[in-house]
Amino acid sequence: MTIKEAISARHMVRTYTDKPIPDDIVTKLNERIALMNDAHGVQMKLITGENAPVWGLMRLMGAKGTRNYLLLGSPAIPDAKEKLGYCGIDIALYAQTLGLNSWWISGTFSKGDVKEQSGTAVQAGILVLGYGATQGVPHKSKLPEDVSSYEGNSPEWFREGVKAALFAPTANNKQAFFLKGSGEEVHIDCNNSIFTDIDRGIVKYHFEAGAGKDNFVWV
Ligand SMILES: Cc1cc2nc3c(=O)[nH]c(=O)nc-3n(C[C@H](O)[C@H](O)[C@H](O)COP(=O)(O)O)c2cc1C
Repeated sequence: MTIKEAISARHMVRTYTDKPIPDDIVTKLNERIALMNDAHGVQMKLITGENAPVWGLMRLMGAKGTRNYLLLGSPAIPDAKEKLGYCGIDIALYAQTLGLNSWWISGTFSKGDVKEQSGTAVQAGILVLGYGATQGVPHKSKLPEDVSSYEGNSPEWFREGVKAALFAPTANNKQAFFLKGSGEEVHIDCNNSIFTDIDRGIVKYHFEAGAGKDNFVWV
């Protein structure tokens, strides 16, 4: 499975089996996490085989077997939360290509526990990883025309970017972003209260994967 294929295959999964993540897969994940940390200046950290700091209340929503997770932490660098959105979704999609499922949590996690475990100035939440009891289901989605516009006839790369952006996980599935294209320039607006920056990073990653980074520039 490629990252592009993972974009449509990934869905939120809250219930996990007891199967541990094998050592070779943990190694691969850690290698990718180190690459993203180095490239973007963030400090994500994988924890395996420990109870994730998910709110107990989430058990009512199906949370079970959440024993591996990525701490979405960063030093206080410019745009830290957007970068954590961008880097975190890379790991979620990479994990999907390795046969894992995931659950992004930026609200219903224990902030105290995460602060202690990550020791970073900025925390954007956790990404639960593991073998899902199911593969999840596609989220309800807006239409391309609800979230994008292009000056003149839109090129295929723009349409593919928007399609990929609509698969992106966003907080409360708000899909509160708008992509505006003109020539080879694309502008993104995003507004999802305290989750705006994280959502923007995630959606930018998805758009780039769909459109092809070489076809446009962000403005
Ligand atoms: C920034 C962000 C924050 C989220 N926070 C939570 C959360 O606090 N609790 C939760 O159960 N799910 C959370 N989610 C998961 C979303 O509800 C889920 O991704 C969304 O409904 C879309 O579904 P999908 O992941 O299947 O595409 C969050 C997702 C994102 C991107």
